[in-house]
Amino acid sequence: MAYLFDNPLRHLIHDPEKILGSYVKPGMTVLDIGCGMGFFSLGMARMVGPEGRVISLDLQTMMLKILEKRAIKGGLSERIETRLVREERFPVETPVDFALCFWMVHEVPDQALFLRELTRALKPGAHALIAEPGMHHVKKEDLEGTIRIAEGEGFAVTERPRIRMSLSVVLQNSI
Ligand SMILES: C[S@@+](CC[C@H](N)C(=O)[O-])C[C@H]1O[C@@H](n2cnc3c(N)ncnc32)[C@H](O)[C@@H]1O
Repeated sequence: MAYLFDNPLRHLIHDPEKILGSYVKPGMTVLDIGCGMGFFSLGMARMVGPEGRVISLDLQTMMLKILEKRAIKGGLSERIETRLVREERFPVETPVDFALCFWMVHEVPDQALFLRELTRALKPGAHALIAEPGMHHVKKEDLEGTIRIAEGEGFAVTERPRIRMSLSVVLQNSI
């Protein structure tokens, strides 16, 4: 779905500023996990500004290559670093300020391992926004299951934002 949506019209339903503006600020280093073709990586790169960084992770080399081309075209390549992920382990050495997992957690086979890695990748007190494709095959109870696992791994729920076509939650790293 994200591939179909990843065009300029997506801004009409998924405006990165509106969705992430409370969390992503100039100078931050943020993660876009499962970045795909980078719709939100590009948006967050504008939001973090020249002093900030977006680390964009995906399992697929092809997605990262597309994002790299888009970043160059948009004059944002200095702010975006792409990294290939193997399974649920993130290649992130220094904890970051915020993480976005947009329409990807349902694809993760071992969510406990994924969320444990996420606590490791985030600074203490930092937030992660999980949004799942609500109109698709992810049901409310699936997200509730993910939230229970996240709470077991040290996250606390801080918000249930309304994001179009999505089921969403904001988690805070309490570790
Ligand atoms: C439906 S796409 C969403 C792309 C993007 N977040 C967006 O909203 O446009 C899901 C992406 O997550 C990636 N993905 C799935 N599991 C992943 C994992 N464990 N780590 C990193 N990327 C993953 C897939 O390769 C795919 O590019």
